[in-house]
Parts: sequence; C-alpha cells; structure tokens
Amino acid sequence: MIIAVDGPTASGKGTIARALAAHFGLPHLDTGLLYRAVGYQVGLDGGNPDEAADALAACAFPDALLENSELRSEATGGLASRVSIHPAVRQALYERQRQFALQPGGAVLDGRDIGTVIAPEAEVKLFVTASVEARAERRFREMQAQGRAATLAEIAEDLRRRDERDRTRATAPLVAALDAVQLDTSSLSPDQAVAEAIRIVEQKPNHH
Ligand code: DC
Repeated sequence: MIIAVDGPTASGKGTIARALAAHFGLPHLDTGLLYRAVGYQVGLDGGNPDEAADALAACAFPDALLENSELRSEATGGLASRVSIHPAVRQALYERQRQFALQPGGAVLDGRDIGTVIAPEAEVKLFVTASVEARAERRFREMQAQGRAATLAEIAEDLRRRDERDRTRATAPLVAALDAVQLDTSSLSPDQAVAEAIRIVEQKPNHH
C-alpha cells in the first residue's frame, strides 16, 4: 500500500505521515528534506538557488547531509522552495522518490506532488491543509520553544510567500490530486489529526 500525504508547510502533513507509517508498519520518506538538502547544498557551494544549473549541481549533495539539523530551519525551507521550481531539480530527485514508493511492502511519502507526480497510483492520497493563521501559530510556538525570535506576522507573511511559490510554479505545483481526501487540521490537535488520517486510510476499500 502506498500512502501519499501532500500539503503546504506546517499543515501537519509531516506529523501525520510519520504516525501513519508507524501505525501501518510502513517506511516513511519526508521528500521535503531532499529539496531542503539541495537548497542547503547550493548555499555551501556558493551558488544561486534561482539558477537552474547551480541548483541542479547541488542535487549531488552527500547523503550525510540529510542528517544535518540545519535542514529544518526556516531559511533552508525558503531555499528549498526556490530550488524546487526548477524542472531539472525535480527530475533529478524523481527516481529516488519513485524507488522509495515502489518498495515491495509499500511506503508513506509526504511532500507536495506525491499523489500527482511521484506516485499517482497510490492507494490512499491525503491532502492536508490548515488556515494560514493556524499554521503560523504552530510555527510561532515551535520557534519560541527553540528560543528563536520572529513575530506571528512575519511568520504568516513567510508562509504566504512560500505557499504562493509552491502553488504557482509551472512544474508539479502544490495541488490536491482529484482522488485525494482533504483533511483540514486547523482546529484539530496532532492526536486528533492522526486519528482522522488513520480512519481515512482504513476506510479505503482497497487498503490491505
Ligand atoms: O515540506 P517542506 O516544508 O520540508 O518542503 C520544503 C520545500 O520543498 C517546499 O516549500 C517546496 C519543496 N518541495 C517540493 O517542491 N516537492 C516536494 N515533494 C516536497 C517539497
């Protein structure tokens, strides 16, 4: 069984994907991390994330980079969103994601284009959303816990900018697959969102 979990930043898709993987005993791939590694590597190389050639060269990042906690930062998220615009970058990362999805026992992948491009045949597709306000609030609390300063307004503005870029890019934009089930987590706790996601997977007639 392939489970595709797509949605914008801070929608809760990562938490949901990890929990589904644990619940159903499936391997999980956070595909955003691959784009984040490319964005971070461009910086290390002194390249320009908006230049396709620089971004493509950065796709040869070493695997060890995926363990680097810097990949989780807001700054790297912004770089990831910029490099992810280039079709050559998306193509370079395609095979790795596709192979992960095709593992014999199945897999859970989360990202922006899993249900539309990477695994259109996925048995279950979840499109996780939440209002900008709810997402900004979550990100604000996360950052406060880490002792990092940013105002709620700044965070909301950054989220809007990233959403806009991810939704309007020409190649594989963030969009719900026609057969995706929408899950709005705005008013749900993480536990409630996970329970709802599990219920959706179990309701699928062809899940096994
Ligand atoms: O999910 P995330 O915040 O870690 O993703 C960071 C950026 O990577 C996101 O703004 C767009 C890009 N991305 C993508 O284009 N396709 C994916 N499948 C996953 C992420």
